[in-house]
Amino acid sequence: MSVTTAARVDLTAIGHNVELLRERAVGAELMAVVKADGYGHGMVPAARAAIAGGASWLGVATLEEAMTLRRAGLDGPAMCWLYAPGERFDDAVAADVDLSATSVGQVEEIIGAAGRVGRQARLHLKADTGLSRSGAAAADWPSLVDAALRAQAEGLATVVGLWSHLACADEPGHPSIAAQLRVFDDAVELAEKAGVRPEVRHIANSAATLTLPEARYDLVRPGIAVYGLDPIPSLGLARSLGLRPAMTLTARLALVKRVGAGQGVSYGHRYITSAETTLGLVPLGYADGIPRQGTNLLEVWAGGRKRRIAGTVCMDQFVIDVGDDAIQAGDEVILFGPGDDGEPTAQDWAEMLGTISYEIVTRIGARIPRTYGEGTDR
Ligand SMILES: Cc1ncc(COP(=O)(O)O)c(C=O)c1O
Repeated sequence: MSVTTAARVDLTAIGHNVELLRERAVGAELMAVVKADGYGHGMVPAARAAIAGGASWLGVATLEEAMTLRRAGLDGPAMCWLYAPGERFDDAVAADVDLSATSVGQVEEIIGAAGRVGRQARLHLKADTGLSRSGAAAADWPSLVDAALRAQAEGLATVVGLWSHLACADEPGHPSIAAQLRVFDDAVELAEKAGVRPEVRHIANSAATLTLPEARYDLVRPGIAVYGLDPIPSLGLARSLGLRPAMTLTARLALVKRVGAGQGVSYGHRYITSAETTLGLVPLGYADGIPRQGTNLLEVWAGGRKRRIAGTVCMDQFVIDVGDDAIQAGDEVILFGPGDDGEPTAQDWAEMLGTISYEIVTRIGARIPRTYGEGTDR
């Protein structure tokens, strides 16, 4: 039985993208960032495909995501970096998950867990080099380093990494990039002088992996480019390098019918037919991650052509107007895909909506099954 709706994920594309990124990162290891359910592609299958392509690390935001990787049998280096005071690190430490530490308090919480489970915590000390999100500010960095070294001397932790994150890597030439790298180099130098011997220093996201050789250090941490989407669309690097978008979002028309001229369509009658025409009902809506702002705006591929959404995107459905073209209930609609056959891409949707492709793919809802294959499976 063919599925009615699906986000088809091309795992070969993910592996291929990782291979290309590794070549680009010349000599650095690669951490595939698979947080947020693998940017909507499915975390565990995406992680496996990335490892097959040469990723030696996995990166996630939350402890729960890290433990999901472990429960799936992904036992290699996996790092996680976002938690609030009071979270329990016991399971993560016991499972050898690498943990970011951004403050003395966090080191204490993490080594508390290490003491309880009888295993050394693997720490990556995070410097805030100018993003002003997480990470120790320059003034707090020496005490963070000291706390980590004390924990290491007590046998409760190993300092595996020194790391940070860039604010404007997707804006080549932005002065903050060089400024952040200088602050990072200073932070690394201070830590090394204090006695830290990091296995990996890392700061590069996809944009930096692609455009900033000086930011690659020992390990790069691409996310969006692993999924074949462009971190800097204005440069068109993803396409020119041969990265392949991995997700194709499809549905089958639930209903097709003729209506007369002047017919209001969907909630609020924000679309009125201009002539007798054929409407097709697509069974996906904002509850599935189709942005309601896409009303009368976004295009999908149906019957061999792009069609604009006609009227309001509802919770579970929207309508397209195909004029007099012959379409039938059950016909496939491609909402977005790699773009090879003319269908819109996630990047096209992002541009129409004034957002980034990250938001398009990560918001695809849990109600849509992810199906996996090699190639686009068409
Ligand atoms: C800490 C960290 N590193 C790396 C990434 C990957 O970034 P990108 O998807 O732009 O490559 C992210 C994603 O937001 C992140 O939060």
